Amino acid sequence: MIGRKNMGKASPLFLLIVGVGFFFATYNLVTMVIHHQRRESEMELPGDDPITRMPDELKRSGEPRRPFHVAVTATDAPYSRWQCRIMYYWYKRMKDSEGSEMGGFTRVLHSGTPDNLMDEIPTFVVDPLPAGMDRGYIVLNRPWAFVQWLEKATIEEEYILMAEPDHIFVKPLPNLAREDPAGFPFFYIKPTENEKIIRKFYPEEKGPVTNIDPIGNSPVIIKKSMLEKIAPTWMNVSLRMKEDPETDKVFGWVLEMYAYAIASALHGVQHILRKDFMIQPPWDTKLGNTHIIHFTYGCDYSLKGELTYGKIGEWRFDKRSYLRGPPPRNLSLPPPGVPESVVKLVKSVNEASANIPGWDDGR
Ligand SMILES: *[C@@H]1O[C@H](CO)[C@@H](O)[C@H](O)[C@H]1NC(C)=O
Ligand SMILES: *[C@@H]1O[C@H](CO)[C@@H](O)[C@H](O)[C@H]1NC(C)=O
Repeated sequence: MIGRKNMGKASPLFLLIVGVGFFFATYNLVTMVIHHQRRESEMELPGDDPITRMPDELKRSGEPRRPFHVAVTATDAPYSRWQCRIMYYWYKRMKDSEGSEMGGFTRVLHSGTPDNLMDEIPTFVVDPLPAGMDRGYIVLNRPWAFVQWLEKATIEEEYILMAEPDHIFVKPLPNLAREDPAGFPFFYIKPTENEKIIRKFYPEEKGPVTNIDPIGNSPVIIKKSMLEKIAPTWMNVSLRMKEDPETDKVFGWVLEMYAYAIASALHGVQHILRKDFMIQPPWDTKLGNTHIIHFTYGCDYSLKGELTYGKIGEWRFDKRSYLRGPPPRNLSLPPPGVPESVVKLVKSVNEASANIPGWDDGR
């Protein structure tokens, strides 16, 4: 349950990956010069592929259960910790419900040392990147965290869900992957509109830019064997992107998402795009068939229930209001007129905080 390995010094595995990365950086400098305009083709979303619910007896005799391991990358900051506690609470609530194929759970803690949640949440400690390498962009640690975890941990399940602390499971999650992994299409990841930059890392001979899925690494359900191949490349690509000033500037905080999308395409992997994977309030107002609520955006509303995005609302829920510690229990519910997605989010936070022992004790 608790992993604790070489901290402090850069590991040989790390040095190998960085070494190969530099070779490819030079290679890409050459390929970036060759740049053609390509037609954009519409990214086609597969139609709804409803998972048919079957009674338990039928299920046992039919398709076998294909459990996936839930892995959430996290730091030891209070901000990350309270989100992980809520996330783990909802995982436990959903895990054994009908339709779930959720297997074990691991918080992959990439701060290098155990924290005070080790006895509450199954945790595997990995090293952060060597000092300064993330250039203040902490999520660059994610690919490196996955490389180490996959290499060192024993993972029983054949599939892995890459999740984040600000994910709340609102429905039991089945294994949305098949042979191909399943990912969530983000509206702001637009490979075809960034061909010039993408080509620095995805050379022409690899194929059209439309091979790159409009996704990030999370949420994704993927075969472990596939992720073992993609993760080191993902790490290479993300570090090289960060080192390239133009890429860093254009991609900004979504750089690491593009890095995963490109890395998987470099391995010839394409994802089944599942819009019902998650919703992102306040932009998504309906719960629909979603499995996860991603609370990455602030939710600001007037007392009349009107969205005031970008302006502090008379009523608000924003995870960034709680950088130094958890939100209090029993947050006030939104005023009438606020969409069901936001109401469900606040109720879910409240249910978790009410039921987690020692919520306020500074963990
Ligand atoms: C580094 O990245 C390149 C792709 O750009 C990949 O081919 C290479 O295998 C990566 N290194 C490792 C150790 O995976
Ligand atoms: C939660 O807060 C509401 C007022 O916003 C109050 O009426 C209710 O009793 C509180 N519930 C608990 C469990 O503290």
